[in-house]
Amino acid sequence: MSNSSITNESGTFEIGETTVHRLGFGSMRLCGDDIIGSPEDEETAREVVQRAVDCGIDLIDTADSYGPAVSERLIGEAIGDPDDVLVATKAGLLRNREGEWIAHGDPDYIRNQVLTSLDRLRTDTIDLYQFHRPDGDTDFEDSVAAFAELKDEGLVREVGLSNVSPELIDQAREQVDVATVQNRYNLNDRGAADSLEVCAENDIGFIPWAPINGDDLAAHGDLLDDIAEAHDATRRQVALAWLLERADVMLPIPGTSDPAHLESNVAATQLSLSDDEVQRLTDAAE
Ligand SMILES: NC(=O)c1ccc[n+]([C@@H]2O[C@H](COP(=O)([O-])OP(=O)(O)OC[C@H]3O[C@@H](n4cnc5c(N)ncnc54)[C@H](OP(=O)(O)O)[C@@H]3O)[C@@H](O)[C@H]2O)c1
Repeated sequence: MSNSSITNESGTFEIGETTVHRLGFGSMRLCGDDIIGSPEDEETAREVVQRAVDCGIDLIDTADSYGPAVSERLIGEAIGDPDDVLVATKAGLLRNREGEWIAHGDPDYIRNQVLTSLDRLRTDTIDLYQFHRPDGDTDFEDSVAAFAELKDEGLVREVGLSNVSPELIDQAREQVDVATVQNRYNLNDRGAADSLEVCAENDIGFIPWAPINGDDLAAHGDLLDDIAEAHDATRRQVALAWLLERADVMLPIPGTSDPAHLESNVAATQLSLSDDEVQRLTDAAE
């Protein structure tokens, strides 16, 4: 039951057999600087997660590499494993103190990581387990096979991919049902448009990461401001509302560490852009 006055009006999408609201929450920003270690204020981080659920968000994205382990732990502490929230985590990237993200798709590593994620998320089954990024040193097929095996064993309910081309989506679909694809996509960066098209054609959820371009919306600032003013909204809200209009399979996960920013992002689902506004935004960078 929500105790917030902000409600999630983004419509719904089926991930496997689970219905979620299309606007979710990305929890990468709940960690320390460079997404390493704990945030300065863990209490506020847990509050953000709780506020997301109170606002009607039931799709939360995380990864074992955020912290590492910190984001998953904070989610587990904040909400445990509620039946009505789908927590999507990922494996396949290592971190180091220099802040690098190192692809590691070794099947034994994936099988090990799922056990650590189950513990931190305080659950018996990962709702959606995403392969974080293809690893040039491991055959993609072997990594995907590990995810498929975890699904067969019941440790994972649904399998997703991240940072993949249309060719790799098709290849993985030969091995396992692919429920979602998570690629970078926003108003300014449409590089993953071809993967989005494959998802739309096959009813696969498309999770655009950095949906507000990491909060850098200067490139189309004037246009965004113009439309935002007409709706008494913000640039970010217009950018999110545009994404939701792009495709029925679009599941944006704006990331924030601030409860007020979270509410503002959910309020974007109440914006109703005109066809003309959507078209002007679509034309802006194409
Ligand atoms: N699969 C992948 O390889 C991959 C890669 C990167 C990210 N992700 C996922 O995608 C999610 C979203 O991406 P992202 O966090 O990089 O980028 P984003 O959502 O486009 O932007 C996040 C940035 O915008 C700021 N922000 C958000 N809402 C705001 C608001 N209402 N007002 C003011 N500032 C606001 C945040 O700062 P504040 O904290 O101050 O609000 C943060 O600096 C991540 O959390 C993560 O779950 C996946």
